[in-house]
Amino acid sequence: MLLNWYDKNGRRLPWRVRGGAHPDPYVILVSELMLQQTTVKTVIPYFQRFMERFPTVQSLAEAPLEEVYFYWQGLGYYTRARSLHATAGIIVSQYGGKFPQTRQEVLKLKGIGSYTVASFLALAFNQPETVVDGNVIRIICRLYNLTEPVDEIAGLIRQKAEALTDRTCPADYASAIMDLGAGICTPKNPQCLLCPWQNFCRARGLENLENIPRRKKSGKKEKTGFVYLIHNNQNEILIRQRTEKGLLSGLYEFPWSEEKLFAEAEDTGLEVSHVFTHIKLTLRICLRQDNDVFDNGRFVPTAELSAYPFSTLMKKVYQKFSAR
Ligand code: ADE
Repeated sequence: MLLNWYDKNGRRLPWRVRGGAHPDPYVILVSELMLQQTTVKTVIPYFQRFMERFPTVQSLAEAPLEEVYFYWQGLGYYTRARSLHATAGIIVSQYGGKFPQTRQEVLKLKGIGSYTVASFLALAFNQPETVVDGNVIRIICRLYNLTEPVDEIAGLIRQKAEALTDRTCPADYASAIMDLGAGICTPKNPQCLLCPWQNFCRARGLENLENIPRRKKSGKKEKTGFVYLIHNNQNEILIRQRTEKGLLSGLYEFPWSEEKLFAEAEDTGLEVSHVFTHIKLTLRICLRQDNDVFDNGRFVPTAELSAYPFSTLMKKVYQKFSAR
C-alpha cells in the first residue's frame, strides 16, 4: 500500500535510488549525516556541492578538516562535519574503503546513533531496519491514536513501527515513510484524503488530530551575550577559531562572551539570535577600535572574511552590522 503510493508520489532526491539499496553507501552516509536535524530543502544544495568536491570516501578522508568545515558552513551542528570526516578516515584506514554492513560495526563509526544506523543500513544495504524519527513517531501515534506523551510510550511506538516495516524492500519503505511524514501526515493540516493508510488510521477525522503526537514543552534555555567587532586602523577585523571540542568547534567567530568583555566598547543596540540544540543565544553587537590582538584572535582584512568558515550565528552578526 505504502510502497505503491511511494512509486507514484515519492520525492526524487539527489541521494536516492528506487527499488533497493543505493549502489554507493558513501552517498547515504553523507546525506544521512546532513539530514540529521536539517530539512531536505536546506540539505540539497549543500549535498550537491559537497559531493562535487568530495565525490568518494577516499577524497573526503584525504581532505583537511578545515575544508570540510568550509563546505558545511551554514548547515549548523558542525560536530557532524567532524564526525563525517573521521568516519571517512576509519573507512579508508580500517576497512580498505569498503563500508561495514553490521549494526555493531556501523555504530562504532563517528556521528551515527540509533536513528542513523537504521536509516544507513536500510538505504545503503536494504536491510530490514526500522527508522524512527519525528515523522515516523507522528505517523505511528496517529495510526494507532496513541495520545500519551511521546517520551512515555517510546517502546510501544518502536514496536508498532517495527511491525509495520516492509520486509520486501526496506530501503524503499524507509524513504516512503519519510515522504509520508513530510508531505501527507504533516504536523498541521495533514492531507488525510491523499494518504495510502487513510482506511486504517484511527486518528483520521479526530478533532485533536493536530495535537497527536503529544509532546512535553521543549524547555529550551535562553542565553544572552555580547559579540565584538574589533577593527584595527588597517581595515582589518579580529576573528578567532573555536577550539576542537564542543559546539561549533573549528569554525571562526568574532570574540563573544556572556559577560561584557570591554566596558567602553560602542553598543550598537543591534541584536542577533540563533537557536542551537539546547539553547537560544542572543548576542548584542558591540564595536571597538584596537590594534592589539585579543585572546587567541588574529586580524584579517574584512574583504577576506568569506574565505573563513563561520557559523550561521556569526554570519548573521556580520550581515546585521554591514546592513545597518
Ligand atoms: N531525513 C533523514 N533521512 C532522510 C532521507 N533519506 N530522505 C528524506 N528525509 C530524510
